[in-house]
Amino acid sequence: MAFPLVLLSHPLPPEWIARLQGHARLVVGPAQPGGFAPHLLEHIGQAEGIFCLLTDPVTEELVACAPRLRVVSNMAVGFDNVDVAACTRYGIPVGNTPGVLTEAVADLTMLLLLATARGLPKAAMDARDGLWTTWSPTGWLGMDTAGATLGIVGLGKIGRAVAQRAQAFGMQVIYSEKENSLSPQIFSGARRVSFDELLATADFVSLHCPLTASTRGLMNEFTLKKMKKSAVLLNTARGPIVETAALLRALREGWIFAAGLDVTDPEPLPPAHPLYDLPTCIILPHIGSATFGARRRMAELACENLLAGLAGRPLLNCVNPQVYNR
Ligand code: DGY
Repeated sequence: MAFPLVLLSHPLPPEWIARLQGHARLVVGPAQPGGFAPHLLEHIGQAEGIFCLLTDPVTEELVACAPRLRVVSNMAVGFDNVDVAACTRYGIPVGNTPGVLTEAVADLTMLLLLATARGLPKAAMDARDGLWTTWSPTGWLGMDTAGATLGIVGLGKIGRAVAQRAQAFGMQVIYSEKENSLSPQIFSGARRVSFDELLATADFVSLHCPLTASTRGLMNEFTLKKMKKSAVLLNTARGPIVETAALLRALREGWIFAAGLDVTDPEPLPPAHPLYDLPTCIILPHIGSATFGARRRMAELACENLLAGLAGRPLLNCVNPQVYNR
């Protein structure tokens, strides 16, 4: 029996995708992530499944060339790289991987929060560079977190996990949600406020909303100026939610105190970018979910979504369930 052909955009550790053995014939792209390689696209006309990463754009053009395609499985919770509307029009379910990376991303958000609050990279570099000559009562001062207010933009799974961690650190938590959100008004002691109130009162603003047309550029010159001058911006969601040029100005001109970024726009941020020169900005290479456990669970869930789609069953996590009502 011929197994269905699946395009795996980039190689993954074999044990992470062991479930596909005996169920799919894989054509695998290059090790370096970032789009579908030409040799993969040669097979698009025969492909019944696509297993891709957040760096691979699944465009309408691609889907239109894949008459046999039955499922797109994205190994990420975010799916802004996929033209979901186009997939829906073509009746193709799109899977993502929520839940399995929540704790890893929440941990990294707290790590960035604490590191920016205490100026960790600079203190560590100063120690290494011989600037640690004595214990100084006024040296390397940072922000207190206990009693400070954390403002969470987007209270989904990850936002909630961050809220719980922050509460354990003695922080007050407020959050904002888009107007028609079904999120409860109250979340275990966290208060729902308007986005404007959040910006005006939070000591830390942490972004956990998806990248959509309405959140692209949400943090711009106008909104960054609404934050407290003493506040920190954290982004572990998607780079384009923050306008990079506006953030650079905000940090250079002191509109805000610091920023901690796990994601940037563009991504990767080129090594010569001036944001890297600012001691008040910590930039990480999109490692929120990069624990051994989380990445393996993401791959395994993406396999299950893929197999369900190939078998004509509903995906475990489908971002366009309306395809099943057609
Ligand atoms: C996701 O899954 O969307 C994350 O950004 C991966 O780290």
